[in-house]
Amino acid sequence: MQEEMLKGLLARRSIRKFRPEQIKEEELQAVLQAGMNAPNAKGRQIPIIVVVQKPEEVKAVKELNARFTQNPGADPYYGAPTVLLVLVPRDEPLGPLDGAAVLTNLCNGAYAAGLGSCWINRPQMMFDSEEGKQMLQRWGIQGDWAGVGSVALGYPAVDLPAAAPRKADYCRYVR
Ligand SMILES: Cc1cc2nc3c(=O)[nH]c(=O)nc-3n(C[C@H](O)[C@H](O)[C@H](O)COP(=O)(O)O)c2cc1C
Repeated sequence: MQEEMLKGLLARRSIRKFRPEQIKEEELQAVLQAGMNAPNAKGRQIPIIVVVQKPEEVKAVKELNARFTQNPGADPYYGAPTVLLVLVPRDEPLGPLDGAAVLTNLCNGAYAAGLGSCWINRPQMMFDSEEGKQMLQRWGIQGDWAGVGSVALGYPAVDLPAAAPRKADYCRYVR
């Protein structure tokens, strides 16, 4: 059994406070490799991962995401210096499932690389909006992309939170 991997999967938790300094390139690449190696329907690798690190663009992403929250003044990425956006071609029936697999691997990969991460919602709304579409154009990303989810990524500024207990009837056995 791959014990280290299993330990990591059990230990990963969402981090909601980040240090401001940028992560190292090799750490970023390790996380991206984890994301790119997620299971994907028919092996088509249809998702893309957009790595946003330019400070003014990180700010723009945070502001657009925040617009769809109850608290548009707050940073929905908790001060993370890197934001990963997972997009899939619009109108691909399995796109959201492929994208979710990528997001899961990115978060687990971040833990394995010694980084903090948190899956952040609302890229669906962000990239359905005109401003989100303009953002992709500004970044030179051609095509019609739908948002699936995003990841706040950076060095954690808090200890790893404790896991909530797993519900007793999570698994149902037929055997
Ligand atoms: C689809 C999805 C959307 C999520 N959206 C957010 C979000 O917008 N903001 C946030 O702080 N956490 C978000 N999370 C993280 C969950 O709140 C977190 O995974 C959950 O509370 C369990 O905690 P853990 O990740 O520490 O095990 C999201 C997770 C998933 C899977």
